[in-house]
Amino acid sequence: MIRPVDVLLEFLEAEKARGVSHVHLDDGAREVLRDIFNRAKTGGAAPAAVEPVTVSAAVPAVREPLPTITLNEEPKPVVVSKSLSIAGSTKAEQLASLRQQAENWGPAKSLGSLRETMVFATGNPDARVMLVGEAPGYQEEREREPFVGPAGQKLNDILKAMGISREQVYISNIVKFRPATPKQTTNNRKPTPEEMAACMPFVRAEIGIVKPECVIALGGTAAEGLLGLEGTVTSMRGPWHDFEGTPVRVTYHPSYLLQSGGSNNVKRQVWEDMLAVMEKIGLPISDKQRGYFLPKP
Ligand code: URA
Repeated sequence: MIRPVDVLLEFLEAEKARGVSHVHLDDGAREVLRDIFNRAKTGGAAPAAVEPVTVSAAVPAVREPLPTITLNEEPKPVVVSKSLSIAGSTKAEQLASLRQQAENWGPAKSLGSLRETMVFATGNPDARVMLVGEAPGYQEEREREPFVGPAGQKLNDILKAMGISREQVYISNIVKFRPATPKQTTNNRKPTPEEMAACMPFVRAEIGIVKPECVIALGGTAAEGLLGLEGTVTSMRGPWHDFEGTPVRVTYHPSYLLQSGGSNNVKRQVWEDMLAVMEKIGLPISDKQRGYFLPKP
């Protein structure tokens, strides 16, 4: 088997031979390389998702390029009249019926700006806390599960610090398909307001079925889609917002924590938001948890 790293080295050697001294890595490529590095460091196997072609995505394709999707030149009219029907008597059945309808959801498909693979949600239908991100990225699309890439690892760490597991919460995204870009490889983009509007009926229905005690909006895009807020996450943090009767807390997206290079200031703010969530639903908070970011005596 050709290892991704060999493909990358081969490409870089060829570039060097051509006199090239720098290559550009976009955010998606960095994410993939960081993931490979971390897995190698911890002795984990490289994910199936990073077979040769994946690393070629870090740089111009040298072997078989990843499939690209052609974006419509002219945006098609958005189908707004389609409505969801919820079948089933248990929450799990009802969510499964939503998932099935999402696969070929006309309002999303007709935009022509989203990729084919639908990534719905994961977690506990009886969750007390629901987390909502913006849209699946490269790794989420491959595994068909939200928050499984580096941002997902960070999210798992946050939940662990709260004393809860990924399996206890319900994790979803405003948009159920990865937003497409021309010649897309590992790069991701923010969903547009139209893409969010097309998928919002699902998020609304998910909240209605799961009935979490509170929702955490991860990042400004999720807050915009869910609450119609505009501006910076800094300006949205702090108060409890309301989504049709369910309290919503806005915090920074886990990717922002990764990008901010482990800044204690951002970590502290996210942790303050999580403490507010724990207080809201009456989760026990130990002195250690309360003091994570307090100055040490
Ligand atoms: N970022 C998101 O907002 N959602 C995901 O599922 C992954 C990354």
